[in-house]
Amino acid sequence: MHKQITVIPGDGIGKEVIEQALLVLGRIEKLRGHSFKTVEALAGGAALDKTGVPLPGETLSLCRQSDAVLLGALGGPKWENNPPGLKPENGLLGLRAGLGLFANLRPARIFRALMNVSTLKAEVLLGVDLLIVRELTGGIYFGKPRGISKEGDEDIGVNTEIYKASEIRRIAVVAFEAARKRRFKLTSVDKANVLEVSQLWRRIVSEVSASYPDVELHHLYVDNCAMQLIANPRQFDVIVTSNLFGDILSDEAAMLTGSIGMLPSASLGGAIGMYEPVHGSAPDIAGKDLANPIATISSLAMMLRYSFGLSQEAETIEQAIVSVLDEGYRTADLKEEGKPVVGTRQIGELIIERLH
Ligand code: IPM
Ligand code: MG
Repeated sequence: MHKQITVIPGDGIGKEVIEQALLVLGRIEKLRGHSFKTVEALAGGAALDKTGVPLPGETLSLCRQSDAVLLGALGGPKWENNPPGLKPENGLLGLRAGLGLFANLRPARIFRALMNVSTLKAEVLLGVDLLIVRELTGGIYFGKPRGISKEGDEDIGVNTEIYKASEIRRIAVVAFEAARKRRFKLTSVDKANVLEVSQLWRRIVSEVSASYPDVELHHLYVDNCAMQLIANPRQFDVIVTSNLFGDILSDEAAMLTGSIGMLPSASLGGAIGMYEPVHGSAPDIAGKDLANPIATISSLAMMLRYSFGLSQEAETIEQAIVSVLDEGYRTADLKEEGKPVVGTRQIGELIIERLH
């Protein structure tokens, strides 16, 4: 198989975690006789520094010419006070919108070896395996009006949570389809007791459910969902929710696994998919060989599975990660009494050695 991948390392630990993922990709290429061409592109702070904008047009067109995009992380304190529109995060939002990636899949699975790393009790975590389907190109992230303006002599900030029925319908379909490949249970999360946009969300998701009688549908308010994720996370199979709620709940779900450094994601819905770890650019540990590359390596596995249909290759990567963790190796974020802590490069090497 021959594929071209646009690689956007981005900022902070982005470069380090991407480096390990590309070494894994290189090994898979050799072992399985594929050919992957990777082309590096700029976005986020790195792009701001070089070109003055967070998403150069060239990056978007490179992405569109390739078969998939692999992204590290964008953002950092250097650009924190940039004006709206010129923040590194605008690069990420521009990629998601520009590539039409409305469906963000964020699986959170508990690794047996990491049961004691999480702040939650092992008995609560045992068997947790859930998938958050986050709407990614709508809602309050993109709604208009937005901005900061004056009302008399007072500053006011405005953002708008807005969803068209068609946007809700297409993400609901993705979630129901995902549930059919899993345990046939879908929880739709909203704030319908307060927000009209959530009332529409609930109505449309219920309408779509008529076409999926085999999938059990539940509705949950977001505050309750946040609580249930900690109280009894095993009850969840697939969760579908809006852009903002999905952002928040996926960080919470990440902590079930012990560290946000473990959570991969796939953004789908357009002609090509984009794959990125759920974590940020962690500027405090950047360049110190401390970052956990597992979320990025798992995101690469998702790319092989969803964009290229290479599920065996994806499984070999996921299995190698399980082996390394079972053998007791830990990155700093997964520190555990009596277990050797290794750096970004070494955990990458250990995973690569276990690919077959
Ligand atoms: C995420 C991140 C992004 C988001 C930021 C960096 C814009 O938190 O992917 O979850 O809010 O979507
Ligand atoms: Mg987030």
